[in-house]
Amino acid sequence: MTDPTDEPKTPSVIADHNSNAVGNISAGGDISGNIHIGNVMGYTSEQVAVLITHIQSTFQAKPFDGRCPYKGLDVFEEEDAELFFGREKLVDDLVSRVKDSRTVFVTGPSGSGKSSLVRAGLIYALKQGAIKGSDRWLYATMKPGRDPIGELGRVVSSLASSTNPEDEIRAKAMGDATIFARWCEIALKEGRDKRLVLFIDQFEEVFTQISNEEERVAFLNLLTHAATVENGRVIILFSMRSDFVSNCATYPQLNALLNMQFVQIGAMQPDELVSAIAQPALRVGLRIDPDLIVQIINEMKGEPGALPLMQFALKDLFDSQHEKSGVPALILNDYLQRGGIHKALERHADDSFSKLSIKGRSWLAPSSAANRDRTRHTRYETHRHVR
Ligand SMILES: Nc1ncnc2c1ncn2[C@@H]1O[C@H](COP(=O)(O)OP(=O)(O)OP(=O)(O)O)[C@@H](O)[C@H]1O
Ligand SMILES: [Mg+2]
Repeated sequence: MTDPTDEPKTPSVIADHNSNAVGNISAGGDISGNIHIGNVMGYTSEQVAVLITHIQSTFQAKPFDGRCPYKGLDVFEEEDAELFFGREKLVDDLVSRVKDSRTVFVTGPSGSGKSSLVRAGLIYALKQGAIKGSDRWLYATMKPGRDPIGELGRVVSSLASSTNPEDEIRAKAMGDATIFARWCEIALKEGRDKRLVLFIDQFEEVFTQISNEEERVAFLNLLTHAATVENGRVIILFSMRSDFVSNCATYPQLNALLNMQFVQIGAMQPDELVSAIAQPALRVGLRIDPDLIVQIINEMKGEPGALPLMQFALKDLFDSQHEKSGVPALILNDYLQRGGIHKALERHADDSFSKLSIKGRSWLAPSSAANRDRTRHTRYETHRHVR
């Protein structure tokens, strides 16, 4: 365990210029002999320093460009792909699933990085042409929300540049399961190899936001038909919290879809975490201390839901150092002074909660009726609401 009063023992490093290297970091024999940190395989700070030097050698150093390299509690969007690391193996796996199948379910615990993985990982890779021709496919992302059929209609309308699909899907969805797929085919026009990729993020909303069972069934029928109709060109990607997997069992066609391509994402491994923490900092031209990385990985204890805490603490550290010194260096001592991953979020929550109106506070209380489904929410989700 590092003594909080120690100066970092390993020298920090600076990124090189104009990054364009992507992919996994790997280091050779220098870092063999992993050690256990808590219940996970981790690295010593010397080993992390070797990994950082390796990362550093893959692109050219540049001066700090002013950007915050971390997202805090926010999802990584496609435009953040340049700073999205640590999920390379999973992205490759998902791309090959999309090659073979017209549906993929990405599940995982709350906050494990599902939405970011699909947005900044898979969809970004597909748009870059990860599959032959996929750079010319059509893409859309939606959340079910309270009006999933209307949302589906709006998505197709924007792809087809016409309001007709929305009107017709709304009017016919309850009795015609083919209407969505047919409009998708119209939006795709000619080109047998072309595909329409629809990402339904936070799919669990189908079970938490829709009170009308007929509407839920109609929405599910539109999706299952589009994903299974013979020679169809619609690919549907789902992200859903693992605790809602059993809800799918009530709907046989949806359940069959889930069984076709089911991926549960877990905690990032230490090498992936080193990448997720160090790469973004180095890419924007910041110094980062290997001891800091070891400390954070240690504090995360291998838990898949600790990713938001990690992000939040890193952004908190960046913001405070940026304010102080303009060109921040991310080092362990400053981080420890701010209290580590749990304290950072606690401070933020207390601050945000004190700014909330009485109504807002009662909405967040787990006992309120409106919050029935939110009792499963982790502390991080509450923070997402407070912001
Ligand atoms: N590869 C990554 N590297 C670093 N941070 C990440 C990574 N992926 C996700 N995160 C961070 O983890 C947190 C959760 O990400 P995200 O919202 O994508 O997860 P989720 O599983 O979709 O969450 P939810 O269960 O709320 O839908 C965010 O703070 C995000 O910035
Ligand atoms: Mg999500």
